[in-house]
Amino acid sequence: MYPENIITKFQEQFSKEASLVVRAPGRINLIGEHTDYNDGFVLPAAIDKAIYFAISPREDENCYVYAYDLKSSDTFSISTIQKSDKSWANYLIGVVDELQKSEQKIKGFDLVFGGDIPLGAGVSSSAAVETGLAFALNQLYDLGLETMQMVKIGKAAENNFVGVNCGIMDQFASMFGKKDAVIRLDCRSLEYQHFPLSLPNHTVILCNSGVKHSLGDSEYNTRRLECEEGLSILSGIYPNVKSFRDLTLTMVEEAKTSLSENVYKRCVYVVGEIDRVIVACEALERNDLATFGKKMYETHDGLQHNYAVSCEELDFLVDETREDDAVVGSRMMGGGFGGCSINIVEKSKAEAFLNRIKKAYQAKYQKDLVTYAVALTNGTEII
Ligand code: GLA
Repeated sequence: MYPENIITKFQEQFSKEASLVVRAPGRINLIGEHTDYNDGFVLPAAIDKAIYFAISPREDENCYVYAYDLKSSDTFSISTIQKSDKSWANYLIGVVDELQKSEQKIKGFDLVFGGDIPLGAGVSSSAAVETGLAFALNQLYDLGLETMQMVKIGKAAENNFVGVNCGIMDQFASMFGKKDAVIRLDCRSLEYQHFPLSLPNHTVILCNSGVKHSLGDSEYNTRRLECEEGLSILSGIYPNVKSFRDLTLTMVEEAKTSLSENVYKRCVYVVGEIDRVIVACEALERNDLATFGKKMYETHDGLQHNYAVSCEELDFLVDETREDDAVVGSRMMGGGFGGCSINIVEKSKAEAFLNRIKKAYQAKYQKDLVTYAVALTNGTEII
C-alpha cells in the first residue's frame, strides 16, 4: 500500500529513514481541453491517485533515485546535467535542471518514488513527478519558492527537458488542488478560483481505454504549432487580436479562406472550447448539470472532429454513454490519443452503467475496461 511501500523501500535501499515524504496527485479536467496553451480557461482538480516521494538530502552532488513501480534505478549528478537513457529519470533531471537555471542552490538527494497514477492514461503522472520533486527539493533545501514558481518549474522541465510543449494545467492542478473542489484557471492571467464540486447524487468516473498515449511521440506538439500558425494569420487579419481570447467564431469563419483546412478546424475548436468552459462553469455554479454535461459532449465532438486528438476506443466509450440516462456528460480527457474518458454518472445507476460499458468494451475490443471513481483531493503536500 502506498505510501508505506515507498517508505519501506527507501529504508531498504539507503539504510536510513527518509527525511521527507511528499504526495503529488494526478488530475482530472472537467472541461477546457487544449485551451491552457491557448490563453483559455481550464477546470481541473487533483485526485486521489498520486505519486509518493521518500527523499533525503545528501552532502554531495549525487542523486540516487529508484522508481518503485518500474523497479529501476538511476544515478546522476546535479553538476553534469544530461539526458538519461531511462526515460522516467528525465522528468526528475529536468526539474533539477530548471531549479539550477533559476539559480536555486541545491545538492544531491536519495529518492524512492512511485504511486498509483496509471501511466499514459491522461491523468498526469508525469506532472505529478515534476511537481512532487520540485516541492520536495523546495522543502529539503529551504528554497522559499512560491507554489506558482514550483508549478512553472515543473512545466519548464516538461517543455525543455522532456520535450513536450505542454501548457500549465497539469502541474498547476497537481500543486493547487483542494479537497472536494475544482479549480477554474484563467491560463492567460493565471488567476484562479477554487469552487466546491458538490455532486450529492453523482460520481465522476474515468474509463481507461487502455490505449497508452505518449504525448512526446504524439501530435501534441504539432497541435500547438497549428494553433500558433492560426493565431499568427488571424492576428495579421485582425490587428487587435493578441490571443485566442480575442477571437470569435464569426471572425474565424470570415477568415476561413486564409487558413489551411486543418488550421481552420483547430481554431474553430479552440475558440469554441474557450467559450464552452465559461458557459459550463456558469452552469455548474447554478447546479445545472444537464447543461454542463451537454458541454462535455460538445467538447468531445470538437476534440474528435476538429482537433483530431481522440481515438477509436475513446469515441466508442463516449458513444456508449450517449443514450444512457445514467450519464450526464462524457468526453475524452487530457491530451488525447488514448487515455481515459471522464464521465459524470448518477450514483444510483453507476453500477449498472459500469457493468454494461465493461461488457460492451470487452465485446468490441477484447480488452478489460479499467474504471476509477475519483475523489478530489488536496494538491502536492507533505505527509
Ligand atoms: C496535456 C498537457 C496539458 C493540456 C492537456 C490538454 O495534459 O500536459 O498542458 O494541454 O494535455 O488539455
